[in-house]
Parts: sequence; structure tokens; C-alpha cells
Amino acid sequence: MQADVTGRSVGGHGLGYNVKSVVMDKRDRFKAYYKSAGGAEGLPWHRDEPTRFLDAIIASRGKLGSAVDLGCGSGIDAVYLARAGWTVTALDFMPDALEMTRKLAEQAGVDLELVQADVMEWEPGREFDVVVDSGLLHNLSRDHISGYRANILKWLAAEGDFILAHWESRTDSDRLRGGARRVSRKQIIDLFAPELKEHQFERLEATGLPERVGPDLSVGFYHFRRR
Ligand SMILES: C[S@@+](CC[C@H](N)C(=O)[O-])C[C@H]1O[C@@H](n2cnc3c(N)ncnc32)[C@H](O)[C@@H]1O
Repeated sequence: MQADVTGRSVGGHGLGYNVKSVVMDKRDRFKAYYKSAGGAEGLPWHRDEPTRFLDAIIASRGKLGSAVDLGCGSGIDAVYLARAGWTVTALDFMPDALEMTRKLAEQAGVDLELVQADVMEWEPGREFDVVVDSGLLHNLSRDHISGYRANILKWLAAEGDFILAHWESRTDSDRLRGGARRVSRKQIIDLFAPELKEHQFERLEATGLPERVGPDLSVGFYHFRRR
């Protein structure tokens, strides 16, 4: 049976849950992650390097521009862009994330705009040359995916670059594992077509994960460009 990007069967029935309570659950889950992390390095998704493709993309664009980091977390990508001279907006709905990003920017001696908002409610009223989402979309509830797509298309400037990191499903059974939603590469490409075209893709295979999400995990890194 065919599945859409939500991982749910196309033409099938919804799960009948209350959307608002699902959103609240996700906020609570992130609140718990930040509360128990004791700092950026304690976050389960912590890394020191910018998201795959970001450095090459800003180098290849040849001139400075504007960027937004959706679900900025501790601010690795946002601060990387600001250090490169870009005008950066860092968005997250968790105040702890924005505080980590603020501190990292301060240490780096750069300025950026911090926005506390839900990605589904934010209305920037402007476009960005680069949009980064490293780990937000796969945490959104299914009902928000088409709205998220519409937002990306509204916010990404002509010839803009969109970088996405999203957990990937490679078999039918890995969709059933815990953690963020996993979908196939084709589902992601189809979600953003025809307006965005995949330019680069890489996957990272991780092993030795906690039982809840494990034993292995494939993360897809996508670079889309607006046609
Ligand atoms: C997996 S973390 C990734 C953080 C960062 N991008 C990174 O790669 O280190 C996902 C982040 O997205 C934020 N987030 C999740 N859903 C969100 C939403 N609906 N609106 C705004 N931020 C959201 C979470 O608070 C969290 O900081």
C-alpha cells in the first residue's frame, strides 16, 4: 500500500486524535529534553558541526543573504550562519533552546534574531535565501505537514536553498519504531515537488541506539532548491 509523507496510508482514515493535545504532548516532550539536558551538550541530538550541505551551500552562493533556522535548538546552524556574515533568524518554541542559542551567539560575538514561536503559527512576512530545518519536520504532528509545506514555499525566496534533516524509513517495519517519524526519501521529494527540486542527498547510518528508537537509524540530509 502506498503511504504519504506522514507515513499513513494514502486514502486511509486519520487516527481520530485531538490535534491540540498531540501538539501539547510534543511541547512537553521537548520541555523534558531541555530540562534534563543540563546544557547544550546533554541534548540527545547534540552535535558541534553545522548540518550537512550548509557550509558548501553558503560558499557556493557567493554572496551574503538571509537565513532562518527552524527549530534552532542550541543554535549550531544559526550561529554558524551568523559567523559567516549572514542575517539570521533562529526560531524555536522552547525558551531554553533560544537561551542556548543566545549564549552561543554571544560567545561567538555575533548578532541574530531570536524568535520564540511555533513554526505553524509564525508569520515573518518576508522571505529567506536559505531555510534550514534540522530535526523539526519529523517531529510535527501529521496534520501539520501540508501547512508546513505551504510555509516553506511562502518563506523560501526564488532560487533559495532549503536544507532538511529528517529520519528516514528504509523498510516497512522501521516506521513502527519510537522517536521521530521516519519516511522514505521519495516521500520527502514528493512532498516538496514540484516547486522544490532535490539537488543533493546523503544519508547517515547510526547504530547502537537506545532500544526505544534502535537498533539502527538512517537520517536523510536533503538539499532542495526552489525551481
Ligand atoms: C531535534 S531538535 C533539533 C535542534 C537543532 N535544529 C539541531 O539540529 O541541533 C528539534 C527542535 O525543534 C523544536 N521544535 C519542535 N517542534 C517545533 C515547532 N512546532 N515549532 C518550533 N520549534 C519546534 C524543538 O524545541 C527542538 O529544539
